[in-house]
This record gives sequence, structure tokens and C-alpha cells, in this order.
Amino acid sequence: MKIAITGKGGVGKTTLSSLLAHLYAQQGRQVLAIDADPAGNLATALGFPSELAESITPIAEMNDLIYERTGAQPGQIGGWFRLNPRVDDIPERFSAEHRGVRLLQLGTVKGGGSGCMCPESALLRALVTHLLIGRREVVILDMEAGVEHLGRGTASAVDAFLIVVEPGKRSLDTARTIRDLAREIHVPRLYLVGNKVRNESDRQFIEAHSPDLPVLGFLSQSTEAIEADLRGQAAFDLAPALVEEARDILARLEHSVGITEAAGGF
Ligand SMILES: Nc1ncnc2c1ncn2[C@@H]1O[C@H](COP(=O)(O)OP(=O)(O)OP(=O)(O)O)[C@@H](O)[C@H]1O
Ligand SMILES: [Mg+2]
Repeated sequence: MKIAITGKGGVGKTTLSSLLAHLYAQQGRQVLAIDADPAGNLATALGFPSELAESITPIAEMNDLIYERTGAQPGQIGGWFRLNPRVDDIPERFSAEHRGVRLLQLGTVKGGGSGCMCPESALLRALVTHLLIGRREVVILDMEAGVEHLGRGTASAVDAFLIVVEPGKRSLDTARTIRDLAREIHVPRLYLVGNKVRNESDRQFIEAHSPDLPVLGFLSQSTEAIEADLRGQAAFDLAPALVEEARDILARLEHSVGITEAAGGF
């Protein structure tokens, strides 16, 4: 299962990523969580102790590795570098594992984003392709708003693309924009997940304003989740109710992906 999670800033992408990663790890599955948000903090959300979190260097900052694999220095624009560098050993070598979840940080490509023609973005692109196509583990990609890191070649390898929204027009507007970008590159299965819902009317608001996408489920507004963030701990340790809601979301997701796969996708 390869799951990409996106949505407007602050809606709960990282929280949902951590909950799903934790649930898969509990099932005994191998889980690779990818922090693809340049300002990401998935490590804390997964309960990584700070020393362990700090031991993970984002791939985009590994200048020697980028040079070794692509044949060019990071930041170099123009000139020659390998577009298909070796990446298959990177997940093992540059990640850290905690409570059954292996975490890899992609980091930021300075100047031009991951679309730029520079060695570090070539390495990241090859790595994301490998993560989505060449791995047998569950892969959970915690992304920024948008489809950054996915391209036409890799989009179809994503089993589920979850757009997180909260009750409010802004995150739903962002969801619409993301949906259009995702459709453009042919991401096959797009879903919404509502987060921070307080009551039935919040759920109805999201359903009513959904940009024509199936709503997989909802996570409630949770004081325990806020407390977890205050303490720098994992929401799955402090907010058991969220874990149960995430379990339902995951069950519906697997069911839906199973059905659409049997039917040849949509
Ligand atoms: N269900 C919830 N109830 C209460 N607070 C929540 C809930 N989900 C997330 N939060 C809080 O909202 C804030 C943003 O959550 P999170 O970091 O998961 O969002 P994000 O979309 O990854 O943000 P960013 O765009 O900054 O990466 C955090 O303080 C988190 O603890
Ligand atoms: Mg985040």
C-alpha cells in the first residue's frame, strides 16, 4: 500500500500520517514513513526521541551523497548529471526506526522546488519513484499541499491519495486545487479525510462542500491531540479515540482500494 497525504497547511496531514503508520506497524507490517514536507515534523508526531530524530539527515541536504550518485554538486544548474542515480540503498541507510516505523526525510531543494533541473531534485525524484514502485513495505508519504514529488510516471503507483480538510471553506478550496493537480497527472484514487470535526454539522459541512470526492471518514477535534503536540509526543499514545477513528478510515480505504483494483482502477 502506497499512501500519499496532502492538504492545506495545518489541517492535520502529519497527524494522519502518524496514525496510519502506527496502525500498520501494529498489524506487524513493515512501514516506511516519508517526510516529504520541507518544514516537516513527522518524527515528533511518530514519537521519535529527539536524538533519534536529529540523527536523520534530509536527503536533499546530503551533498556528498548527491555528488556521489548524480556526478554533480548540488545547486548546479545546467551541466551534466545522472538522471537515474542509484537510490535503492538510501531508505535503509539514511532512515531511523522507532516502534516499527522507519522514517526517511526528503528535505528541501533550494531554489526552484523539486521540479528544477538540478542534481538534488534528480536524486529525490529517483528516490520517490523507487519508494512508490520498487518497495514492498507500506509507504506513507506526508506531503505539502499539492502534488510536489509526484510526476506523471509515479502518480499511478500511488494506491491512495488522501486530501485532509478541516471544517472551513479555505481547506476545501485548497482540496479542490489539489484535486485538479492530482487529476492532471493521473493520480488514480483521490479521497478526502475530514479532521478536527467538532460535531455532526462539521461533518455535513465537509460532505456538502466536498470537491466531488469520496469522504473516507473523519477525525474528531481532540484535546488529547493538542496535548500531544504540546508535549512533543505521538497523538497515537495520548489520543486513543483518534486511533479508533483512524482505524475506521484505514478499513474503508483498504476496502475501497481493493474494490477499485478488482475493477481495474478508476
Ligand atoms: N484531530 C485533531 N484535534 C486537535 N488538534 C489537531 C488534530 N489534528 C491535528 N491537530 C493539531 O493541529 C496542528 C497541525 O497538525 P499537523 O501538524 O498534523 O498538520 P499538518 O497539515 O501536517 O501541518 P503542516 O502543514 O504545518 O505540516 C497540530 O498542532 C496538531 O496537534
Ligand atoms: Mg505536517
